[in-house]
Amino acid sequence: MAERDQAVHRIPEVLRDAGWTVCLVGEEQSGKLAQVTAGLRRGPDPSGSGKLITSGFSYWGLESTVAWAHACNDLYYPVMRESIASFSRRWRGLSERLPDGPLHYVSLGPGTGQKDQALLRSLDSRGRCGCYIPVDVSAEMLRLAQREALQHLHVPAADVLPVQLDFSMPANLDRLGTLIRRTVGSEPVVYSLLGNTLANFDSDTQLLALLAEKLLRPQDRFLLEVASTAGQDEAAARAAAQEYENSPRFREFVTSALLQYTDLQIDMNSLTCEGLVEDDRALKIKVIYRNRTGSELQLTLPDRSTVRFPDQDTIRLLLSRKYTRTGLEKMLVDARVTTVGETHEAGHTAFDGPAFGMTLLLLAPGDGTRPAGPNPFD
Ligand SMILES: C[S@@+](CC[C@H](N)C(=O)[O-])C[C@H]1O[C@@H](n2cnc3c(N)ncnc32)[C@H](O)[C@@H]1O
Repeated sequence: MAERDQAVHRIPEVLRDAGWTVCLVGEEQSGKLAQVTAGLRRGPDPSGSGKLITSGFSYWGLESTVAWAHACNDLYYPVMRESIASFSRRWRGLSERLPDGPLHYVSLGPGTGQKDQALLRSLDSRGRCGCYIPVDVSAEMLRLAQREALQHLHVPAADVLPVQLDFSMPANLDRLGTLIRRTVGSEPVVYSLLGNTLANFDSDTQLLALLAEKLLRPQDRFLLEVASTAGQDEAAARAAAQEYENSPRFREFVTSALLQYTDLQIDMNSLTCEGLVEDDRALKIKVIYRNRTGSELQLTLPDRSTVRFPDQDTIRLLLSRKYTRTGLEKMLVDARVTTVGETHEAGHTAFDGPAFGMTLLLLAPGDGTRPAGPNPFD
């Protein structure tokens, strides 16, 4: 019999047909379903700290992916739209500070891929584009992002390696780090976590520390984009919550996970966005679905088990934050990363509203030790 290449060796040839994309699936998806179910089984809590859908699951699946793409274009949800529209300009201010030579790009949570397109385009125009590795919990988001990110670029299909994986889990990051090092060797990598994704995690500082520890080598850089606030009082917290509440498309996106994982009849009037002051570090926004029917409901979950959903009980659908300068600086110290470049943009505000903005940081690994003396932000 003629000598045959193994199937994986034929993938670059297969990818010449633009209709195909590869995707490395890094974990059991059935395990993820068990995780969503566990979040929805938590005990009753009228304050929004009981049942929840954790970050990642808000975007998992086709309905949520489509709803997210719509929310990013909603005129009533200017935060994401403006963050995407202004990204090229903000990135230009930082791209000078990158290491020399070809650069590989790992996008953690690429979303619709528009920002990745801007970044890859700037690398491509200087002939510096290496591999593109988007990493997302949602396979549908990866396909969408890849198509958008690579439009009109000269990145060979065989240099694009989408990875479906939850990057908030330490064991996954170990495996992701190994995969990336095997792919790029010792050449530098730019990682990104954009669109204020970090703020969606309860333990945001721990996640940043974990990403830096498991992925970043001295030659690599990490591009972090977070929402920021100058004001830090109750009024600013209310205004921050309002940004989300005002957008019909955002409301559709945020309830899409409930539609997928429960049999709840969704009433948009039961959705609220609560703004809180989180010490001196951030304004915290909780998007909550509350049972306002006046009676107890039963939720059927993906494993067909049921759970009580008493009157006034809540399901937290999304968590977000806007960081203060103090909060951001403390988080970077705690995550042991140093800033090598920064752009800050005041965002969309009413003339008498608080000043919210977007900060884009280019980070490098710290030396692994805390600076001498007490942390001024502790
Ligand atoms: C807020 S969107 C940001 C999209 C894009 N980076 C931007 O700035 O426009 C968050 C993205 O991260 C992904 N994501 C959220 N949590 C994740 C997790 N734990 N593991 C992998 N991907 C995750 C979502 O699927 C989505 O693509």
